[in-house]
Amino acid sequence: MRIERFLDELACSAIERAIGTRSPAVLRPTTDPKHGDYQINGLMPLAKQQKKNPRELAEPVAAVLRDHEAIAKAEVAGPGFINVTLAPAWIGNALKSALADAHEGVPPADEKHRIVVDFSSPNIAKQMHVGHLRSTILGHALCELLAFIGHDVIRDNHIGDWGAQYGLLIAGLRKFRPDEEGGALALDDLESLYKRASELAKTDTVFADAARAELAKLQRGDPENRALWERFVAITRVELDRMYERLGVRFDHWLGESAYDAMLADVAKDLEARGLARRDEGALCIFFGDDEWSDAPERLRKQKEPFIIQKKDGAYLYATSDIACIAYRRDHFHADRAVYVVDVRQGLHFDELFAVARKLGHTMGLAHVGFGTILGTDSKPLKTRDPSGKTIPLSSLLDEAERRALELMAQKSLDLSEQERTTLARAIGVGAVKYADLRQNRMSDYQFDWSKMVALEGNCGPYIQYAAARAGSIFKKGEIDERSLAPSSIVLEVPQEVSLARTLLKFPDVVHAAAETYQPHLLTDHLYAVAGALSTFYEACPVLKSEGATRESRLALVALAGRQMRRGLRSLGIDVIERM
Ligand code: ARG
Repeated sequence: MRIERFLDELACSAIERAIGTRSPAVLRPTTDPKHGDYQINGLMPLAKQQKKNPRELAEPVAAVLRDHEAIAKAEVAGPGFINVTLAPAWIGNALKSALADAHEGVPPADEKHRIVVDFSSPNIAKQMHVGHLRSTILGHALCELLAFIGHDVIRDNHIGDWGAQYGLLIAGLRKFRPDEEGGALALDDLESLYKRASELAKTDTVFADAARAELAKLQRGDPENRALWERFVAITRVELDRMYERLGVRFDHWLGESAYDAMLADVAKDLEARGLARRDEGALCIFFGDDEWSDAPERLRKQKEPFIIQKKDGAYLYATSDIACIAYRRDHFHADRAVYVVDVRQGLHFDELFAVARKLGHTMGLAHVGFGTILGTDSKPLKTRDPSGKTIPLSSLLDEAERRALELMAQKSLDLSEQERTTLARAIGVGAVKYADLRQNRMSDYQFDWSKMVALEGNCGPYIQYAAARAGSIFKKGEIDERSLAPSSIVLEVPQEVSLARTLLKFPDVVHAAAETYQPHLLTDHLYAVAGALSTFYEACPVLKSEGATRESRLALVALAGRQMRRGLRSLGIDVIERM
């Protein structure tokens, strides 16, 4: 059950019964548990509206609330809000049903949506960079979260596999590595080839023209250039697949920019015919300042730079394929929503894209899930090049994570086989990198700090993995089948029990909020709170050594805490470990 939603409805109907008006309850969790669990703030605006004293208005509402079995206390406080404390017996009951539920009490979303999640989306012939790593981690977590609440998720890797750089690469290959055309090129070679070619094109107009000609040939479907391009894609794909394998990430589709090529001419024609785009120095552009766009958002109306659909040399752009892609997702996937997990610095692109989509009559939900930059410990963007300028591959970052995980495991001196050690180090190392990313408010930049990220304490992956493993180990130790727990009731007496129970109660609301607002950190915060409440609980409350109903209740609390942590980690795309 989603408690917040339940209480909100309860409070709403209490307001209606006591005052005779239907009005929002404005429910918020209290900041200080001394004041109870939730606060109802809706009476103050209502009193203002009705020109009444808010405290007097609140009193009869509190009285109605007190009559409900869920409520232990409802008190009017401050200028006229109501502090609500839940009844422990009722909390116990709610947790009992959560324990019996296969989804830990998390109900499915009211409406099941088909959601395309566009994430990771690196560019061909280049190493994946940290920005793409962030998109990959966040996007993957969001897919898991959305699927967990019952949505139908389509994972699409919108790779950058089309455009001017392929003309440069082909021309570069012919000029600098003519013998290698059929030979063994690696991703590094492609990267340096591209760098050399784009440098040369800046000064050498003959070469620049040759590159454009190669691109035109490629886009016309010339078999030789097409074959070269396919090799570039394949070479990159090998490295990407290796990376995704390590990260445990998969996609349903790899529909890169090239997939929409055949649709682009029509996109341009349509926009021009509708008068939404016009020629400017030969290029086809959308100017949001134009009269046709008078209904566009203010921010776009002021935009001087146009949204370019086609360059004067005939080439289509990133924007063009993104416009086509929305139609494709509607027609082929019947998507209700498309979610783009891309750096915040592309915010303007998505604002413009979504404005165009609306104008073209698309009704699909469109969301840009942006994220900030990863910083080094020097507070500058994390360096992805070594001092000589060579890119540091992301795989070396994961190597380091696994190395540190091994160090961490050494502190625990478990006896493990070599195979087990490797698997565990990967789960912990990769999990730590993922968790460190997910626990941030995604919109902010964050510092990449190994010592905080791979640790046994603090809000980090290994700590939660460990807490989850420890919760499971009680059942092994007591030789109890966790799945067969069926307490007749969950009694909450000791304060540490009540406080753990109160935390556990929030899980369903948190999962929904994290998924629907695309904010995984809401869930990591919850997991950290559960781990903390559980460890305080262990200190005060013997579990295996207690007896009767107390033992049953405590086992149930530990089981539910463990399940929330495991479920939480998994729905963030992080592996769970059995022991540590
Ligand atoms: N390849 C792009 C980049 O590296 C990201 C693509 C994001 N997806 C999209 N549909 N535009 O910046």
